[in-house]
Amino acid sequence: MTKLKLVREGNTEFFVPADLRLENKGPGRKLRYGFYNPAMEESRDISVAVVQVLVNEFDREIDILDGLASIGARGLRIANEVDGDFNVILNDWNEKAIEIAKKSIEHSNLSNIKTSCEDLNVLLCKERFHYIDIDPFGSPVPYISIAVRSVLPGGILAVTATDTATLCGVYRKTCIRRYGSKPLRTWSMHEIGLRILLGHIIREGARFDRALYPILSYSRNYYMRAYFKVKKGAKKADELLKNIDTLKTYDFDLKEREVGPLWTGNLHDKGFLVSLRDVIRKKSFRNKKDIEKLVDRCLDEIDMPPLFYDIDALASYFKRSPPKIFRMMKLLEKEGYRVSRTHFRDTSFKTDAPLDEVIKVFNDLTI
Ligand SMILES: C[S@@+](CC[C@H](N)C(=O)[O-])C[C@H]1O[C@@H](n2cnc3c(N)ncnc32)[C@H](O)[C@@H]1O
Repeated sequence: MTKLKLVREGNTEFFVPADLRLENKGPGRKLRYGFYNPAMEESRDISVAVVQVLVNEFDREIDILDGLASIGARGLRIANEVDGDFNVILNDWNEKAIEIAKKSIEHSNLSNIKTSCEDLNVLLCKERFHYIDIDPFGSPVPYISIAVRSVLPGGILAVTATDTATLCGVYRKTCIRRYGSKPLRTWSMHEIGLRILLGHIIREGARFDRALYPILSYSRNYYMRAYFKVKKGAKKADELLKNIDTLKTYDFDLKEREVGPLWTGNLHDKGFLVSLRDVIRKKSFRNKKDIEKLVDRCLDEIDMPPLFYDIDALASYFKRSPPKIFRMMKLLEKEGYRVSRTHFRDTSFKTDAPLDEVIKVFNDLTI
Protein backbone atom coordinates (compact mmCIF):
# COMPACT_ATOMS: atom_id res chain seq x y z
CA MET A 1 0.00 0.00 0.00
CA THR A 2 1.23 3.49 -0.86
CA LYS A 3 1.93 6.05 1.89
CA LEU A 4 -1.26 7.80 3.00
CA LYS A 5 -2.08 11.11 4.61
CA LEU A 6 -5.20 12.19 6.44
CA VAL A 7 -7.19 15.19 5.15
CA ARG A 8 -10.32 16.86 6.49
CA GLU A 9 -13.35 18.21 4.61
CA GLY A 10 -16.51 19.34 6.40
CA ASN A 11 -16.64 17.23 9.58
CA THR A 12 -15.01 14.22 7.94
CA GLU A 13 -11.45 12.90 7.95
CA PHE A 14 -10.28 10.50 5.26
CA PHE A 15 -7.06 9.12 3.77
CA VAL A 16 -5.61 10.17 0.43
CA PRO A 17 -2.32 9.07 -1.21
CA ALA A 18 0.51 11.05 0.41
CA ASP A 19 2.12 11.92 -2.92
CA LEU A 20 -0.89 13.96 -4.07
CA ARG A 21 -0.16 17.59 -4.77
CA LEU A 22 -2.75 19.18 -2.48
CA GLU A 23 -3.61 22.46 -4.12
CA ASN A 24 -6.82 24.40 -4.42
CA LYS A 25 -6.99 24.86 -8.15
CA GLY A 26 -6.73 22.72 -11.26
CA PRO A 27 -8.28 19.45 -12.32
CA GLY A 28 -6.25 17.30 -9.86
CA ARG A 29 -4.20 14.33 -10.95
CA LYS A 30 -5.06 10.81 -11.98
CA LEU A 31 -3.06 8.53 -9.72
CA ARG A 32 -2.54 4.79 -9.70
CA TYR A 33 -3.65 4.62 -6.07
CA GLY A 34 -6.76 6.72 -6.42
CA PHE A 35 -7.81 10.21 -7.22
CA TYR A 36 -8.56 13.13 -4.94
CA ASN A 37 -9.15 16.70 -6.08
CA PRO A 38 -9.35 19.21 -3.20
CA ALA A 39 -10.83 21.80 -5.58
CA MET A 40 -14.03 19.70 -5.69
CA GLU A 41 -14.70 20.15 -1.95
CA GLU A 42 -17.49 22.62 -2.71
CA SER A 43 -19.14 20.11 -5.04
CA ARG A 44 -18.97 17.49 -2.28
CA ASP A 45 -20.37 19.97 0.29
CA ILE A 46 -23.38 20.45 -1.99
CA SER A 47 -23.83 16.66 -2.40
CA VAL A 48 -23.92 16.30 1.39
CA ALA A 49 -26.65 18.95 1.57
CA VAL A 50 -28.63 17.43 -1.34
CA VAL A 51 -28.60 13.97 0.27
CA GLN A 52 -29.69 15.52 3.57
CA VAL A 53 -32.75 17.02 1.81
CA LEU A 54 -33.50 13.62 0.24
CA VAL A 55 -33.11 11.70 3.52
CA ASN A 56 -35.42 14.24 5.22
CA GLU A 57 -38.08 13.53 2.54
CA PHE A 58 -38.17 9.77 3.12
CA ASP A 59 -39.59 8.27 6.30
CA ARG A 60 -37.63 5.02 5.83
CA GLU A 61 -34.09 3.83 5.23
CA ILE A 62 -32.69 4.74 1.80
CA ASP A 63 -29.76 3.52 -0.32
CA ILE A 64 -27.07 5.88 -1.58
CA LEU A 65 -24.49 5.01 -4.25
CA ASP A 66 -21.24 6.92 -4.79
CA GLY A 67 -20.75 5.18 -8.15
CA LEU A 68 -17.29 6.46 -9.16
CA ALA A 69 -15.98 6.97 -5.66
CA SER A 70 -12.18 6.70 -6.03
CA ILE A 71 -10.84 6.93 -2.44
CA GLY A 72 -14.41 7.70 -1.32
CA ALA A 73 -14.28 11.40 -0.37
CA ARG A 74 -17.88 12.11 -1.42
CA GLY A 75 -19.57 8.99 -0.06
CA LEU A 76 -17.59 9.09 3.20
CA ARG A 77 -18.69 12.65 3.77
CA ILE A 78 -22.32 11.73 3.06
CA ALA A 79 -22.12 8.77 5.49
CA ASN A 80 -20.56 10.91 8.20
CA GLU A 81 -22.29 14.28 7.79
CA VAL A 82 -25.89 13.45 6.82
CA ASP A 83 -28.31 12.77 9.68
CA GLY A 84 -30.97 10.06 9.29
CA ASP A 85 -31.62 6.55 8.11
CA PHE A 86 -29.56 5.49 5.09
CA ASN A 87 -26.79 3.24 3.79
CA VAL A 88 -23.95 4.23 1.47
CA ILE A 89 -22.05 2.12 -1.06
CA LEU A 90 -18.69 3.41 -2.33
CA ASN A 91 -17.95 1.85 -5.71
CA ASP A 92 -14.85 2.13 -7.88
CA TRP A 93 -13.17 -0.40 -10.15
CA ASN A 94 -9.75 0.71 -8.90
CA GLU A 95 -8.89 -1.82 -6.14
CA LYS A 96 -6.16 0.37 -4.67
CA ALA A 97 -8.54 3.31 -4.30
CA ILE A 98 -11.11 1.07 -2.57
CA GLU A 99 -8.41 -0.24 -0.17
CA ILE A 100 -7.78 3.36 0.88
CA ALA A 101 -11.53 3.98 1.23
CA LYS A 102 -11.77 0.95 3.57
CA LYS A 103 -9.06 2.44 5.81
CA SER A 104 -11.06 5.68 6.05
CA ILE A 105 -14.25 3.78 6.97
CA GLU A 106 -12.31 2.06 9.76
CA HIS A 107 -10.71 5.33 10.88
CA SER A 108 -14.09 7.07 11.26
CA ASN A 109 -15.75 3.97 12.67
CA LEU A 110 -18.69 4.30 10.25
CA SER A 111 -21.30 1.52 10.27
CA ASN A 112 -23.61 2.81 7.50
CA ILE A 113 -21.15 2.39 4.63
CA LYS A 114 -19.78 -0.47 2.49
CA THR A 115 -17.47 -0.73 -0.50
CA SER A 116 -17.83 -2.39 -3.87
CA CYS A 117 -15.19 -2.82 -6.57
CA GLU A 118 -16.73 -3.29 -9.99
CA ASP A 119 -17.61 -1.63 -13.26
CA LEU A 120 -20.32 0.92 -12.42
CA ASN A 121 -22.45 -0.16 -15.38
CA VAL A 122 -22.40 -3.79 -14.14
CA LEU A 123 -23.40 -2.72 -10.62
CA LEU A 124 -26.23 -0.54 -11.97
CA CYS A 125 -27.63 -3.52 -13.92
CA LYS A 126 -27.99 -5.46 -10.67
CA GLU A 127 -29.01 -2.97 -8.00
CA ARG A 128 -31.19 0.08 -7.51
CA PHE A 129 -30.68 3.11 -5.32
CA HIS A 130 -32.49 6.21 -4.06
CA TYR A 131 -29.45 8.37 -4.86
CA ILE A 132 -26.82 7.70 -7.52
CA ASP A 133 -23.76 9.94 -7.87
CA ILE A 134 -21.80 9.84 -11.12
CA ASP A 135 -18.60 11.86 -10.90
CA PRO A 136 -16.36 10.74 -13.80
CA PHE A 137 -13.18 11.99 -15.43
CA GLY A 138 -14.64 13.78 -18.47
CA SER A 139 -18.07 12.92 -19.83
CA PRO A 140 -20.81 11.05 -17.88
CA VAL A 141 -22.36 9.76 -21.14
CA PRO A 142 -21.11 6.13 -20.76
CA TYR A 143 -23.15 5.67 -17.55
CA ILE A 144 -26.36 7.61 -18.18
CA SER A 145 -28.59 5.13 -19.99
CA ILE A 146 -28.32 2.55 -17.18
CA ALA A 147 -28.24 5.09 -14.37
CA VAL A 148 -31.61 6.63 -15.35
CA ARG A 149 -33.18 3.16 -14.89
CA SER A 150 -31.43 2.36 -11.63
CA VAL A 151 -32.68 5.32 -9.59
CA LEU A 152 -35.72 4.30 -7.53
CA PRO A 153 -38.84 6.47 -8.06
CA GLY A 154 -38.63 9.67 -5.99
CA GLY A 155 -34.84 9.35 -5.86
CA ILE A 156 -32.10 11.62 -7.19
CA LEU A 157 -29.54 11.21 -9.98
CA ALA A 158 -26.45 13.42 -9.57
CA VAL A 159 -24.10 13.90 -12.51
CA THR A 160 -20.80 15.76 -13.03
CA ALA A 161 -19.38 16.60 -16.46
CA THR A 162 -15.80 17.85 -16.81
CA ASP A 163 -15.79 17.71 -20.62
CA THR A 164 -16.67 21.41 -20.56
CA ALA A 165 -14.54 22.27 -23.61
CA THR A 166 -16.76 19.90 -25.60
CA LEU A 167 -20.03 21.18 -24.13
CA CYS A 168 -18.93 24.82 -24.56
CA GLY A 169 -18.14 24.44 -28.24
CA VAL A 170 -14.33 24.17 -28.36
CA TYR A 171 -14.74 20.64 -29.75
CA ARG A 172 -17.94 21.18 -31.70
CA LYS A 173 -17.90 17.88 -33.60
CA THR A 174 -17.36 15.92 -30.38
CA CYS A 175 -20.38 17.65 -28.84
CA ILE A 176 -22.57 16.82 -31.83
CA ARG A 177 -21.37 13.19 -31.78
CA ARG A 178 -21.51 12.67 -28.00
CA TYR A 179 -24.58 14.72 -27.07
CA GLY A 180 -26.41 15.03 -30.42
CA SER A 181 -26.48 18.81 -30.05
CA LYS A 182 -24.85 21.96 -31.47
CA PRO A 183 -22.91 24.08 -28.91
CA LEU A 184 -21.61 27.62 -29.43
CA ARG A 185 -18.57 29.53 -28.19
CA THR A 186 -20.08 32.74 -26.87
CA TRP A 187 -20.48 34.49 -23.51
CA SER A 188 -23.34 32.17 -22.49
CA MET A 189 -21.55 28.97 -23.59
CA HIS A 190 -21.61 27.50 -20.07
CA GLU A 191 -25.39 27.75 -19.88
CA ILE A 192 -25.72 26.39 -23.43
CA GLY A 193 -23.39 23.50 -22.49
CA LEU A 194 -25.23 22.76 -19.25
CA ARG A 195 -28.56 22.73 -21.11
CA ILE A 196 -27.08 20.36 -23.72
CA LEU A 197 -26.03 18.02 -20.90
CA LEU A 198 -29.49 18.25 -19.30
CA GLY A 199 -31.19 17.67 -22.66
CA HIS A 200 -29.15 14.51 -23.22
CA ILE A 201 -29.91 13.07 -19.77
CA ILE A 202 -33.62 13.93 -19.95
CA ARG A 203 -33.91 12.30 -23.40
CA GLU A 204 -32.12 9.19 -22.12
CA GLY A 205 -34.61 9.02 -19.24
CA ALA A 206 -37.57 9.45 -21.60
CA ARG A 207 -36.39 6.46 -23.71
CA PHE A 208 -37.14 4.30 -20.65
CA ASP A 209 -40.36 6.10 -19.54
CA ARG A 210 -38.51 7.95 -16.79
CA ALA A 211 -39.07 11.65 -16.12
CA LEU A 212 -35.95 13.41 -14.86
CA TYR A 213 -36.75 16.82 -13.38
CA PRO A 214 -33.77 19.18 -12.94
CA ILE A 215 -33.75 20.33 -9.30
CA LEU A 216 -30.31 22.01 -9.22
CA SER A 217 -27.96 22.47 -12.19
CA TYR A 218 -24.89 24.67 -12.14
CA SER A 219 -21.61 25.39 -13.81
CA ARG A 220 -18.26 26.12 -12.16
CA ASN A 221 -14.87 26.90 -13.73
CA TYR A 222 -14.03 23.47 -15.06
CA TYR A 223 -17.06 21.33 -14.34
CA MET A 224 -20.84 21.19 -14.61
CA ARG A 225 -23.10 19.45 -12.16
CA ALA A 226 -26.78 18.48 -12.40
CA TYR A 227 -29.21 16.90 -9.91
CA PHE A 228 -32.47 15.34 -11.11
CA LYS A 229 -35.52 14.09 -9.25
CA VAL A 230 -36.49 10.84 -10.99
CA LYS A 231 -40.11 9.76 -11.52
CA LYS A 232 -41.66 6.95 -13.52
CA GLY A 233 -44.21 7.48 -16.30
CA ALA A 234 -44.37 7.84 -20.08
CA LYS A 235 -46.76 10.81 -19.91
CA LYS A 236 -44.51 12.71 -17.50
CA ALA A 237 -41.54 12.01 -19.78
CA ASP A 238 -43.55 13.25 -22.81
CA GLU A 239 -44.29 16.51 -20.95
CA LEU A 240 -40.61 17.03 -20.20
CA LEU A 241 -39.64 16.43 -23.82
CA LYS A 242 -41.78 19.42 -24.83
CA ASN A 243 -39.04 21.55 -23.25
CA ILE A 244 -36.30 20.18 -25.49
CA ASP A 245 -35.76 22.45 -28.46
CA THR A 246 -33.25 24.51 -30.40
CA LEU A 247 -32.64 28.16 -29.42
CA LYS A 248 -31.56 31.25 -31.29
CA THR A 249 -28.79 33.23 -29.61
CA TYR A 250 -25.78 35.41 -30.49
CA ASP A 251 -22.06 34.82 -30.92
CA PHE A 252 -19.35 37.29 -29.79
CA ASP A 253 -19.94 39.30 -33.03
CA LEU A 254 -23.64 39.61 -32.15
CA LYS A 255 -24.59 37.46 -35.15
CA GLU A 256 -27.63 35.23 -34.64
CA ARG A 257 -26.84 31.51 -34.28
CA GLU A 258 -28.83 28.35 -33.58
CA VAL A 259 -27.84 26.04 -30.69
CA GLY A 260 -29.25 22.73 -29.49
CA PRO A 261 -31.43 20.79 -29.25
CA LEU A 262 -31.16 21.39 -25.53
CA TRP A 263 -33.22 21.67 -22.34
CA THR A 264 -35.14 25.00 -22.38
CA GLY A 265 -37.04 24.58 -19.09
CA ASN A 266 -36.01 25.57 -15.56
CA LEU A 267 -32.54 24.60 -14.37
CA HIS A 268 -33.73 24.22 -10.78
CA ASP A 269 -36.78 23.49 -8.64
CA LYS A 270 -37.73 26.32 -6.29
CA GLY A 271 -39.09 24.17 -3.44
CA PHE A 272 -36.00 21.99 -3.52
CA LEU A 273 -33.65 25.00 -3.43
CA VAL A 274 -35.48 26.48 -0.45
CA SER A 275 -35.08 23.17 1.46
CA LEU A 276 -31.44 23.00 0.36
CA ARG A 277 -30.76 26.53 1.65
CA ASP A 278 -32.21 25.59 5.04
CA VAL A 279 -29.98 22.52 5.24
CA ILE A 280 -26.84 24.44 4.16
CA ARG A 281 -27.42 27.03 6.91
CA LYS A 282 -27.11 24.27 9.52
CA LYS A 283 -23.97 22.61 8.08
CA SER A 284 -20.38 23.64 8.77
CA PHE A 285 -18.88 23.83 5.28
CA ARG A 286 -15.61 25.68 4.55
CA ASN A 287 -17.23 27.04 1.36
CA LYS A 288 -20.55 27.95 2.97
CA LYS A 289 -20.59 31.61 1.79
CA ASP A 290 -19.90 30.67 -1.87
CA ILE A 291 -22.51 27.91 -1.75
CA GLU A 292 -25.14 30.21 -0.26
CA LYS A 293 -24.40 32.75 -3.00
CA LEU A 294 -24.74 30.01 -5.63
CA VAL A 295 -28.11 28.85 -4.28
CA ASP A 296 -29.39 32.43 -4.01
CA ARG A 297 -28.39 33.15 -7.62
CA CYS A 298 -30.06 29.89 -8.72
CA LEU A 299 -33.25 31.02 -6.93
CA ASP A 300 -33.01 34.40 -8.73
CA GLU A 301 -32.81 32.82 -12.19
CA ILE A 302 -35.78 30.43 -11.80
CA ASP A 303 -38.59 31.16 -14.31
CA MET A 304 -36.34 33.53 -16.29
CA PRO A 305 -35.77 32.82 -20.01
CA PRO A 306 -32.82 30.59 -21.02
CA LEU A 307 -29.42 32.25 -21.65
CA PHE A 308 -28.27 35.76 -20.72
CA TYR A 309 -26.44 38.94 -21.71
CA ASP A 310 -23.02 39.91 -20.45
CA ILE A 311 -21.86 43.49 -19.87
CA ASP A 312 -18.19 42.61 -20.49
CA ALA A 313 -19.04 40.94 -23.83
CA LEU A 314 -21.07 44.00 -24.91
CA ALA A 315 -18.31 46.36 -23.72
CA SER A 316 -15.69 44.47 -25.67
CA TYR A 317 -17.87 44.39 -28.84
CA PHE A 318 -18.57 48.16 -28.66
CA LYS A 319 -15.04 48.91 -27.36
CA ARG A 320 -16.29 50.82 -24.32
CA SER A 321 -16.00 50.46 -20.54
CA PRO A 322 -18.71 48.22 -19.07
CA PRO A 323 -21.45 50.02 -17.10
CA LYS A 324 -22.42 48.89 -13.60
CA ILE A 325 -24.58 45.78 -13.92
CA PHE A 326 -27.25 46.99 -11.48
CA ARG A 327 -27.69 50.20 -13.55
CA MET A 328 -28.26 48.14 -16.72
CA MET A 329 -30.74 45.97 -14.89
CA LYS A 330 -32.59 48.95 -13.34
CA LEU A 331 -33.00 50.69 -16.70
CA LEU A 332 -34.34 47.54 -18.37
CA GLU A 333 -36.75 47.05 -15.49
CA LYS A 334 -37.93 50.63 -15.94
CA GLU A 335 -38.66 49.80 -19.58
CA GLY A 336 -40.97 47.02 -18.36
CA TYR A 337 -38.68 43.99 -18.83
CA ARG A 338 -38.00 41.22 -16.32
CA VAL A 339 -34.39 41.01 -15.14
CA SER A 340 -32.36 38.84 -12.77
CA ARG A 341 -28.76 37.99 -11.92
CA THR A 342 -27.50 34.54 -12.89
CA HIS A 343 -25.14 32.08 -11.18
CA PHE A 344 -23.14 31.65 -14.41
CA ARG A 345 -21.20 34.95 -14.27
CA ASP A 346 -21.03 38.01 -12.02
CA THR A 347 -21.03 40.26 -15.11
CA SER A 348 -24.18 38.73 -16.64
CA PHE A 349 -27.92 39.17 -16.28
CA LYS A 350 -31.03 37.43 -17.58
CA THR A 351 -33.89 39.34 -19.14
CA ASP A 352 -36.78 38.93 -21.55
CA ALA A 353 -35.63 42.08 -23.40
CA PRO A 354 -34.48 41.52 -27.00
CA LEU A 355 -30.89 42.33 -28.00
CA ASP A 356 -31.72 45.70 -29.62
CA GLU A 357 -33.36 46.91 -26.37
CA VAL A 358 -30.36 45.74 -24.35
CA ILE A 359 -28.03 47.59 -26.75
CA LYS A 360 -30.16 50.75 -26.47
CA VAL A 361 -29.86 50.71 -22.68
CA PHE A 362 -26.14 49.88 -22.93
CA ASN A 363 -25.67 52.89 -25.22
CA ASP A 364 -27.64 55.17 -22.89
CA LEU A 365 -25.23 54.25 -20.08
CA THR A 366 -21.96 54.29 -21.98
CA ILE A 367 -22.08 56.99 -24.66
C1 LIG B 1 -13.11 11.74 -10.96
S1 LIG B 1 -12.81 10.24 -10.11
C2 LIG B 1 -13.98 10.25 -8.80
C3 LIG B 1 -13.78 11.30 -7.77
C4 LIG B 1 -14.66 11.18 -6.56
N1 LIG B 1 -16.07 10.99 -6.88
C5 LIG B 1 -14.48 12.39 -5.62
O1 LIG B 1 -15.45 13.13 -5.31
O2 LIG B 1 -13.34 12.62 -5.17
C6 LIG B 1 -13.44 9.00 -11.23
C7 LIG B 1 -13.25 7.59 -10.73
O3 LIG B 1 -14.00 6.73 -11.60
C8 LIG B 1 -13.38 5.46 -11.63
N2 LIG B 1 -13.94 4.73 -12.80
C9 LIG B 1 -13.85 5.07 -14.11
N3 LIG B 1 -14.62 4.24 -14.87
C10 LIG B 1 -15.22 3.37 -14.01
C11 LIG B 1 -16.15 2.31 -14.19
N4 LIG B 1 -16.64 1.99 -15.41
N5 LIG B 1 -16.58 1.62 -13.11
C12 LIG B 1 -16.12 1.96 -11.86
N6 LIG B 1 -15.22 2.95 -11.63
C13 LIG B 1 -14.78 3.65 -12.69
C14 LIG B 1 -11.91 5.78 -11.68
O4 LIG B 1 -11.14 4.68 -11.18
C15 LIG B 1 -11.84 7.03 -10.76
O5 LIG B 1 -11.46 6.68 -9.46
